[in-house]
Amino acid sequence: MSQTALPVVRTIADLRAVVAAWKAAGERVALVPTMGALHDGHMALIAAAKARADRCVASIFVNPAQFAPHEDFDAYPRGEDRDSAMLAAAGCDLLFAPNAREMYPAGFSTAVSVGGVSQPLEGVSRPKFFGGVATVVAKLLIQCGPDVALFGEKDYQQLLVIKRMALDLDLPVEIVGVPTARDRDGLALSSRNAYLTAEQRKAASALPAAMRYAVAALQDGGEAIDVEGAVNASLTGAGFGPIDYVEIRDGATLDRLGPGPVRPGARVFVAAWLGKTRLIDNWGV
Ligand code: PAF
Repeated sequence: MSQTALPVVRTIADLRAVVAAWKAAGERVALVPTMGALHDGHMALIAAAKARADRCVASIFVNPAQFAPHEDFDAYPRGEDRDSAMLAAAGCDLLFAPNAREMYPAGFSTAVSVGGVSQPLEGVSRPKFFGGVATVVAKLLIQCGPDVALFGEKDYQQLLVIKRMALDLDLPVEIVGVPTARDRDGLALSSRNAYLTAEQRKAASALPAAMRYAVAALQDGGEAIDVEGAVNASLTGAGFGPIDYVEIRDGATLDRLGPGPVRPGARVFVAAWLGKTRLIDNWGV
């Protein structure tokens, strides 16, 4: 069956015109911001968007502001035709695919900076990351004006940062997190998994295995510090390294946990390298 092409707009003015017409007709609008290289995790975001709104917009923009100079901005996988066909098949209504000049015109000088939840974990390993994410997501929310915007829980800290930012800036939008989509062995789907060699992909199974172990050990009353050590050791044994962090923190505040059995709502957070690929994951206890 031939698939109707997905309408695409590349300017903020065109995006606003389409969304304004939908809203004038009383329709509820959802936005799914992405950087493309779409996979089933993104399709779960589109399905969740369609369940919550009459119209679904997906954006694709590989945001230079959230990559440090030594990171993978140039190598980041790009393929709009494939992405667009996947979005159309999933029932998305519109693709917003601006270029860098539309998003960051000459003279652009503003940054959104979120404190608190953006500071630990990724905030330590990638100090510029959340500034770039918060700035571009604030812009996308203001450009599109959706009723609801959806983000994957795989980037759990990012979700908390965006929720905080929307609350603090009084953005009239509901921010919704969608559970992580996983491969059969439990590895979180990620556009960056495409960087893994076949051998590394096999070794990557150690990550969900270590997460499962951590959750079970914590539920059995294990001490956070011991469990963090065991996860570290099992990832190192499987060939991961360096390990940026293995930390068990409160899932709402990202505060460190004190000694003793972990309280409900705790989460295990890991970021570790396998060769040249940095994998992150988080599981609730
Ligand atoms: O999670 C992502 O793909 C990106 O960080 C986002 C939210 C689209 C902002 O560029």
